[in-house]
Formats: sequence, structure tokens, C-alpha cells
Amino acid sequence: MTTQIEKLIQSAKEKAYEETDSAAEPALTSAVEWPVKCNVGLGLEGAVACETTIGYVNGSKGWLIYRGLDCFDLSEFSSFEETSYLLIFGKLPSSKELADFNAKLAEYRILTDEEWKAVNALPLGKGHPMSDLRTAVSVLGLLDPTAEDTRVEAETEVSIKLLAKVPALAGIIARVRKGQEPIQADTSLSLAADMVRMMTGNAPSEEDAKVMDVCLILHADHGMNASTFTSMVVNSSMSDMYSSIVAGIGSLKGPLHGGANEAVLKTLEEIGSPDRVDDWYANARTKKKKVMGFGHRVYKAYDPRARVLQPLAELLSKRHPEVEKYYEIAVKLEGKVISELGKEKKIFPNVDFYSGIVYAAMGIETEMFTPIFAVSRVAGWTARVLEYLKNNRIFRPRGIYVGPAYVEYAPIDKRG
Ligand code: ACO
Repeated sequence: MTTQIEKLIQSAKEKAYEETDSAAEPALTSAVEWPVKCNVGLGLEGAVACETTIGYVNGSKGWLIYRGLDCFDLSEFSSFEETSYLLIFGKLPSSKELADFNAKLAEYRILTDEEWKAVNALPLGKGHPMSDLRTAVSVLGLLDPTAEDTRVEAETEVSIKLLAKVPALAGIIARVRKGQEPIQADTSLSLAADMVRMMTGNAPSEEDAKVMDVCLILHADHGMNASTFTSMVVNSSMSDMYSSIVAGIGSLKGPLHGGANEAVLKTLEEIGSPDRVDDWYANARTKKKKVMGFGHRVYKAYDPRARVLQPLAELLSKRHPEVEKYYEIAVKLEGKVISELGKEKKIFPNVDFYSGIVYAAMGIETEMFTPIFAVSRVAGWTARVLEYLKNNRIFRPRGIYVGPAYVEYAPIDKRG
């Protein structure tokens, strides 16, 4: 029987396909001849870094595919575990392959005594939880005797370890920050459900677990974004997978990237009620402030991930009255931004706009939203690092020097 969540995803997919721009499809499978000619803008806009078969973002149509599979279909039919397998190994698993993969994820999700003690001995909770997570992943790297083995098989195994262990770390971080005892994994639950349990102390309902699973699927990969590129750059020097993921976490943390989900909820709190949206927005525009959770380097259409998350946020807001107000403010703000900036600047909600309402409904603190993003994005980071590793060439772009050609060295007592 089709569940309500599946129906909501189906209707999001229909809308995405109805409302798309008629821009021509690029030739997705055409062979690349290096060197590639491209126009490069600031922030490497338009630059081509590699060939990939992992995923594709169609920015003008607002579609997202992983290994050829539509993100709407994966959200409806797949699980985060299966989607991670797809991203890392390039195909949907057979029943046996999925069972073996899940067994490994379950084994690794339970931190060893050594890992548990080392992570719990860290001064967690003094800085941002993404800094906690960055440090905790680094500690796991110190404890893993295979960490320095950069062969593809070894880095693949480390990828599976990280997929399993990062949610456990997020759970510890969330609880220590609240002054609560951390709890070990319960591997009878899905990774998504167990992550919520390890953070909040309560296993989510079946429906909430499915919604969180969809969130993890939708955040798993997204082209050559800043954190993915960061991870790939680090690994391209033949460093190691832990260093690459630590760097990815550092990049994702920023408010222009993954940190926007946290900033969105703060914005909704600041606005306070739907009748204050117009004034808040007018004031933000006068101050030339960006509205968090809107805009994207690649999407010039409605972000398909936001298309799925919006009805899911609505569903949860009806059942969790504490977030209903946020949802109402968000819908009004979306209408305002799209009416003013949608046509002219192609600014629409991105993945971060509605995800926070979903997480808040599940009792997760605002500051933990970006670590949840990281839990999911480990799949895309590791998949792309592994793909590039198979044909590795160190990344080394240029900066164009625009300083003076020659300056005479002045002794310290002669300097102005
Ligand atoms: N609110 C208002 N105006 C915006 C917004 C926004 N959120 N985003 C872009 N614009 C405007 C800019 O002011 C700029 O206008 P101008 O041409 O008049 O100067 C124009 O749109 C282009 O914006 P840029 O910042 O140059 O676009 P860029 O591709 O460099 O940045 C980014 C993309 C970082 C996502 C940007 O849209 C932004 O800062 N959004 C808010 C933060 C956010 O939500 N980040 C999450 C992105 S999704 C993710 O990383 C998971």
C-alpha cells in the first residue's frame, strides 16, 4: 500500500517535471577530451574538475540524479543504506550485497571501547558541533591502523566505517552538549532511525524514521559542491580518507553551504510570526542581506530536494505543534522571496530551507542540523573521492598574480 509519504514524494516529482524549464538536455554521456575548454568565473564557477558517473544536477530543470537514478524515485523506494551503496559501488545492490553491506554498517556503527573512550574524552560542547564532529572523525583516523593505506580497497573499507560511525559520533556530540550520557548504537534500527535515537534518546516513530531516511537520501550527494571538492582536493595528494572527510566537514560547516540549515531556523525564530514576514523581508533587502535557505550556484529552478522536504515539513508540522509556526512563517517567506527574486534572479528555496523544520519536529536541536547533513554527505564525499582516486591526478589550479612585479627589499628601519 502506498503510504502518505510516498504519495507526497510522487506529487513532488510530478510538480518538478511539470514546471521545468524547456532548456535543452546537455549531452550527458559525451566523451570528455582533456584539456576541456570552459569559461571560469570567480569561485571557480563553470570550471570542470573531473569526469564523473556519480551524480548530476540539472540546474535549469531542477532535477537531481545519482548514478542515473532520479532522487525522487530513490526517496520513495530506496533507503539511505542502499543509496550509499549505489553511490559508492555504482549500482543498486542485490539482496545479498545489501544484507552484507548492512551487516558491515551495523558492526562499524558500534564504536569500539577505544573509540568510545577517546571520543568521550574530547572537550566536546565548547565550540560548534561541526567542530566537535571534525575533531572526533580525526580521532577515529588516529585509532584506525588502516588509515594510511591509500589503496582503493582500503579507502573503500574506511568509507563504510565512516558512513556507520559518523552518525554514532553525531549522537555522542548531541547528548554531551545537553549534559546527557551518550548512548551506543542499536543496530536493529535503520541508520536514520538510530541516529535520531542516539541524539534524542528516543527511537522515532516509523513515519518519522522514513522522513529522516528521505532527508539522508536527499543530502547524500550533490555534484562538485564546496565540501565535496574540498574532500577530493585533500585526497588527490594521496593523503588519506579520514583527512579528506575531516576537510569536507570543515567546508560544509560554513553558512553559505551546509551551515545554512541552522541559519534558516534562526531566521524563522527571528521573524517570530507569519505577520512579521513582510517587514522582516523588507528590512533584510534594505540591508542587502541574503535570505538563508535560498539561492544556489547551480539550480536556477526549484531545488528538487526542497520540493520533497516542503510537504514533509508540512506533514510533520501538523503532528508537532511546536514547529507549526515555523512552517507557516517559512511558507510565507518562500512566497515573498519567489515573488520578488524568483523570476528576476532565479532564486528559489534550496535543500536547507525546509530540512530544519523536519529536524526540529523530531526534537533535534538547531545546532545539530549541519552534523546531520554531514552524516548523509559522507556517502557522496567518499564515493567521489574513491572515483577520483582510481585515476588520480593532484589538483593544482592557478591564482592569477596581480601584484607588483618587483619590490626592492627594504631593511626594517627604513620601512614606512
Ligand atoms: N537571498 C537574496 N539574494 C540572493 C540570495 C539569497 N539567498 N542568493 C543569491 N542572491 C542574489 C545575490 O545577492 C546576487 O545578486 P546580485 O547579482 O544583484 O549581486 C545574485 O543572487 C547571485 O548571488 P551569488 O551570491 O553571486 O551566487 P553564488 O552562486 O555565488 O552563491 C549561494 C550561491 C552561496 C548558495 C547563495 O545563493 C547564498 O548565499 N545563499 C544563502 C545561503 C544558503 O542558503 N546556502 C545553502 C546553499 S545549498 C548548500 O550548500 C547545501
